Amino acid sequence: TNGVITIDPGYKNTGSCESAITFLDGEKGILRYRGYSIEELAEKADFLEVAFALIFGELPTKEQLEKFHKDIKSNSVVDDDIKKIVDAFPKSAHPMGILSSLTSALTAFNPSSVNVDSEEDMYNAIVKIMGKFPVLVAWTMRKKQGLPLNYGSKSLGYVENIMKMMFEQPNEDYEIDTVVKDALDKLLILHADHEQNCSTSTVRIAGSSHAGLFASLSAGISALWGPLHGGANQAVLEMLEAIKEDGGDTKKYMAKAKDKNDPFRLMGFGHRVYKNFDPRAKIIKVAADEVLNNLGIQDPILAIAKDLEQEALNDPYFVERKLYPNVDFYSGIIYRAMGIPVEMFTVMFALGRLPGWIAQWKEMRLNHEPIGRPRQIYIGENLRPFKSIENR
Ligand code: SDX
Repeated sequence: TNGVITIDPGYKNTGSCESAITFLDGEKGILRYRGYSIEELAEKADFLEVAFALIFGELPTKEQLEKFHKDIKSNSVVDDDIKKIVDAFPKSAHPMGILSSLTSALTAFNPSSVNVDSEEDMYNAIVKIMGKFPVLVAWTMRKKQGLPLNYGSKSLGYVENIMKMMFEQPNEDYEIDTVVKDALDKLLILHADHEQNCSTSTVRIAGSSHAGLFASLSAGISALWGPLHGGANQAVLEMLEAIKEDGGDTKKYMAKAKDKNDPFRLMGFGHRVYKNFDPRAKIIKVAADEVLNNLGIQDPILAIAKDLEQEALNDPYFVERKLYPNVDFYSGIIYRAMGIPVEMFTVMFALGRLPGWIAQWKEMRLNHEPIGRPRQIYIGENLRPFKSIENR
């Protein structure tokens, strides 16, 4: 501090806003959306209900949910010219880079979504992105797989429709696998919001300049991409694969994770707020066993993950730093069992987090929050005269 301004790297001890959306207690490992525990929501609600509650504040009545879904369905077509942008990407492009580009491109095709002065304008922008984002997610995946860019079916539910767009194969009738549907609902609910995490803070600060909703979401997608944040779910699977290739030698990776000179971190472990078990990780760990059993899949990676967890929970380095498995540690094992490619895992995180980002952006706009503009403490050169290039 310089007596006037206090620097707080990573905002570890800084609050950015007051919010009524999500409550979490890092010491006790508690997470609630609009006062409802995620344990109850994951068991009893479906993803669209939870999205409605996050965005509008209350769990929807049957009529409200039907209207929300109807309005979303009538806004779930994407301008066909977006396909030209998808085509322009090399197959090697990371899906998060494709998704953030397509999300920002939506503004060009929906210019009216930028001004949200009235509640109606805001509602229209929200149902547009809730309808179009799953299409962008599916097209991102199908681009990587060389499959035709498709649409789902208006007769399907919100999550079932996403599954059809993602998984259907040409010349085959796609059957909804209820095991996958229930697991996907649960995973999307568990990822739906998490108060002022890095990507949500990015959406809020980008939106605070009154950039449009789609542009603000695109910024959030880019922040989520990082391996320290949402990108961790992909990094966990790559780490577990490496350990498996190494003959399951978890000790070597534990040593690397503790070695200050080694940049390697145990991916999927640790959290800025949770200094106890991430409640989402607990639910996802149980779901991983269930889904693999129900799908009849034996995945040695799950056993390695459990070994690693046990080792870390009993290792003083991790115990004294209160490092526990987080939401990203087991989720990829389920995505893989669903047939989702590893580079798509963080896109699935974004799909789940969409309603949370929307809710947080809406709250920031309705609260008329000022543009985000932090200060700094200057530590550079004092005033000095210009030097011509001959004298440098
Ligand atoms: C998500 O914020 C959210 O809510 C995010 C999220 C959400 O829903 O939006 O929950 C989603 O991003 C979950 C986190 C996914 N990231 C990872 O799994 C990557 C691995 N984790 C770490 O990079 C780290 O734990 C963070 C990024 C999650 C948290 O970082 P912090 O709070 O800045 O903690 P830190 O880096 O200061 O670490 C504190 C100490 C350090 O050791 P010392 O310098 O004190 O000796 O713990 C060590 C770190 O080196 N440490 C780890 C570690 N995480 C922290 N050491 C080894 N492996 C790890 N995973």
